[in-house]
Amino acid sequence: MIVSATEMMKKALKGHYAVGQFNINNLEWTKAVLMAAQAKNSPAILGVSEGAGKYMGGFKTVVAMVRELHDFLGVTVPIATHLDHGSYQGCIDCVDAGFSSIMFDGSHFDIEENVKKTKELVKLAHDNGKSIEAEVGSIGGEEDGVVGTGEIADPEACRQIAELGVDFLAAGIGNIHGIYPDNWRGLDFGTLEKVQKATNGIPLVLHGGTGIPEEMIKTAINLGVTKINVNTECQLSFAAATRAYIEAGKDKQGKGFDPRKLLDPGFKAIIATVEEKMDLFGSTGKA
Ligand code: 13P
Repeated sequence: MIVSATEMMKKALKGHYAVGQFNINNLEWTKAVLMAAQAKNSPAILGVSEGAGKYMGGFKTVVAMVRELHDFLGVTVPIATHLDHGSYQGCIDCVDAGFSSIMFDGSHFDIEENVKKTKELVKLAHDNGKSIEAEVGSIGGEEDGVVGTGEIADPEACRQIAELGVDFLAAGIGNIHGIYPDNWRGLDFGTLEKVQKATNGIPLVLHGGTGIPEEMIKTAINLGVTKINVNTECQLSFAAATRAYIEAGKDKQGKGFDPRKLLDPGFKAIIATVEEKMDLFGSTGKA
């Protein structure tokens, strides 16, 4: 079932678990996340950055691929197609293309501009039956060309954005895209608690899910996080499994160079990573 993420987030908030957003890059990635969700009887959000959207042949291609794979595989669990860190125009394009959910990342604007643009996009999303995520503060590191300073969110600014009617909110709390550095100071739970209070308990989003220790994930969920984004970890699993296949010389045995064989270990590794995250986030069995 392809749906907006609104109901998923409401259920997750009530049930004290989080739904994973797994970023997709191609057909193997999409199939892997859909199959893992179905196997785990878990809702899932397919994250698509603007760069990945372009790589896959545009947002309409993504929508068609997800829809057709979803039907072909007989997926019955709730699935959302979600723009990740969208620009203003990217949000408009994804609504037009048929995504079920969008994220407007206005975190690099001052709060007045972020509020103005988010407000317009909330109307656009809701008029079209889509859910919308907004961002305050910023996620450190770089993802697909989107660079963040890692600024900690101001709870008052979060309140202003939440009041616009966004369905879920990403607040920077020291989280970083990519691999965490050895000297990382951890998540700022004091700020997360203040954000939760200031926003009257809106579902919160934790970006940079790769490499966050289990205990921190659980504390974040207890403080109102209902969506956790994972991208790099699936890429690392895919790369490691593909490397192992080639280093073992399997591509040179028989027809081991057949792309369906060559990509299979990486594909299975993505499934394993996604399933592990669903167990950790508590969304297994919650479809
Ligand atoms: P990671 O790449 O660190 O898992 O972060 C994913 C993310 O936050 C997507 O927006």
